[in-house]
Amino acid sequence: MPVTVRWAQCLTRPLLMIPGPTELPPPVIQALNQPPTIQYDRSFDEGVLEPTTLALREVFQTKGEVILMPGSGRTALEAGAVSVIEPGDRVLVIGAGQFGVLMREIMNRVGAELTEFSVELGQPLDLARLASEAERLRPKAITLVHNETSTGTTYPAAEVGQIARRVGALFLLDTVSSIAGIDVRTDEWGVDLNMTGSQKCLAAPLGMGLVAVGARAWEAMERRKRPATSYTYDLMRWKEWWIPVSRGGKVPDGMGRRQPVSIPTHLTSAMQVAVRLILEEGLPQRFRRHEIAASALRAGVMAMGLDMFPDPSLWSNTVASIKAPKDVETGAVVQRMRDQYGILIGTGLDKIRTTTLRIGTMGMTASPHYVLPTLSALELALRDLGYKADPGAGLAAAQEIFANNS
Ligand SMILES: Cc1ncc(COP(=O)(O)O)c(C=O)c1O
Repeated sequence: MPVTVRWAQCLTRPLLMIPGPTELPPPVIQALNQPPTIQYDRSFDEGVLEPTTLALREVFQTKGEVILMPGSGRTALEAGAVSVIEPGDRVLVIGAGQFGVLMREIMNRVGAELTEFSVELGQPLDLARLASEAERLRPKAITLVHNETSTGTTYPAAEVGQIARRVGALFLLDTVSSIAGIDVRTDEWGVDLNMTGSQKCLAAPLGMGLVAVGARAWEAMERRKRPATSYTYDLMRWKEWWIPVSRGGKVPDGMGRRQPVSIPTHLTSAMQVAVRLILEEGLPQRFRRHEIAASALRAGVMAMGLDMFPDPSLWSNTVASIKAPKDVETGAVVQRMRDQYGILIGTGLDKIRTTTLRIGTMGMTASPHYVLPTLSALELALRDLGYKADPGAGLAAAQEIFANNS
């Protein structure tokens, strides 16, 4: 009897090529393996939490504070929104996909008077029209998802920041799938709240939200008529309880301080290592690595005869959104790749769930060691499902990009 080989059998888990959570570097995994410490102990506060938040300022390219909290990307978004927006405040939400919609929902919950600036999925943002809409509305805040993970698109955050500044609005930026993979210049772009999560290009475990807070955001919090309705996630409490006077906070330097929410010690230790690895690599190389890996992945899928979903001007270096071949079910591709070849990719979301596939190049996975096996598995899985690309064509195209950019 011929034996049918299931290649995934020898693996203990699938390789994570979804757009986050992503693979963890071994030193980050090792940092999780330690006995519990007390989160309010001075040695944790001064030896782990503070150095990690200070080092994160380099990753965020800011001189402001970076606040780490238990949760995820959406915790950071919600903390940012609930801290600076009061019921009735006008907010202009740019919605170019599923995560723009998430921001709209969060703003709704905090009672904002919101206007959505809708962008067709995968299509460019009309900056001139946005500028006139911002001029007309004069909102308190403008929100943007820098890298729309649902459509594999990167939007021009610097330009939106300028528009926000011109109309005196706060600029709230979701960088959940861009920070540490794509250049994000918090201060230079005038980002007042830069909100993200731990599990994507930072390559730390899922479980933390991060917010970089600029001076104008602190002022907006100081000027509130009423305190934020969230006790745990009111960012102002970090200023009052944790940030020393010498950095613009309210805690006299050297005095005991409190965390507004109990900080997970293991996750912070893992983040400390993740940030060290990022800074040792250096941001310029890290961004370039993501750029090359994403170009190689795109070249590979296009050489298999597939098209990218978004407009080429917006192609993301951390998430590829690929049109599935006609008559091939996206769910079946994901299942086949996982079960037979041991690699997990994603379908699109919402309206493009059944027509697109998504592959992440984030942190460790933005490298030939992950991109080439993924292309190989994609080719084989599609072949199993009836779509026949030239054998090896995708791999050859990707390999050429790596060869020419090493
Ligand atoms: C752009 C973007 N914003 C927000 C979120 C929500 O983050 P989380 O799942 O960490 O809560 C995600 C998650 O994928 C995302 O990609």
